[in-house]
Amino acid sequence: AQNPLLQLHRLWMVLRSASGCARVCGCNETGMLERLPRCGKAFADMMHKVDVWKWCNLSEFIVYYESFTNCTEVETNIVGCYWPNPLAQSFITGIHRQFFSNCTVDRAHWEDPPDEVLIPLIAVPVLLTVAMAGLVVWRSKRTDQLL
Ligand SMILES: *[C@@H]1O[C@H](CO)[C@@H](O)[C@H](O)[C@H]1NC(C)=O
Ligand SMILES: *[C@@H]1O[C@H](CO)[C@@H](O)[C@H](O)[C@H]1NC(C)=O
Ligand SMILES: *[C@@H]1O[C@H](CO)[C@@H](O)[C@H](O)[C@H]1NC(C)=O
Ligand SMILES: *[C@@H]1O[C@H](CO)[C@@H](O)[C@H](O)[C@H]1NC(C)=O
Repeated sequence: AQNPLLQLHRLWMVLRSASGCARVCGCNETGMLERLPRCGKAFADMMHKVDVWKWCNLSEFIVYYESFTNCTEVETNIVGCYWPNPLAQSFITGIHRQFFSNCTVDRAHWEDPPDEVLIPLIAVPVLLTVAMAGLVVWRSKRTDQLL
């Protein structure tokens, strides 16, 4: 059984990337797939400085992991794509597989972040979207009144 919140989060990411923004916002997926491996390479270089037996202990390399995540976000945004998106996520999953495939104990942790992490992750973009839609309606109503 999967965490329903996590499923909702995945669904949200798919919806966001499927909302036509790939074209409208000029998301260059080719460019993204070219750039992401640089992040993976930098992360691999840093991980190789960490003893292999520590690879399942997140606190040993959380700094590297955060800078890797940040790198994927920055590079994804440079080519005009949203982050996260399914392509970037499958790249990140590949990196996880490469380094953490033997971390059976931690797997649940990687795939099922606690609800305290997921709720803002889902709620914030949803609320923002609702707020934006409300703003558009409000502004069009106001324009109606002015005209
Ligand atoms: C997308 O990125 C690729 C690789 O960097 C580049 O060759 C191509 O010109 C880009 N396409 C657009 C529309 O910017
Ligand atoms: C993980 O690394 C931290 C920091 O070095 C250490 O304090 C902790 O005991 C380690 N945990 C395990 C389970 O090895
Ligand atoms: C992410 O990386 C960019 C560019 O390297 C940097 O300017 C920014 O401060 C970083 N953000 C975080 C949260 O580390
Ligand atoms: C996982 O374990 C297998 C078998 O012991 C080993 O060949 C492989 O290199 C390990 N992978 C990682 C990422 O540690």
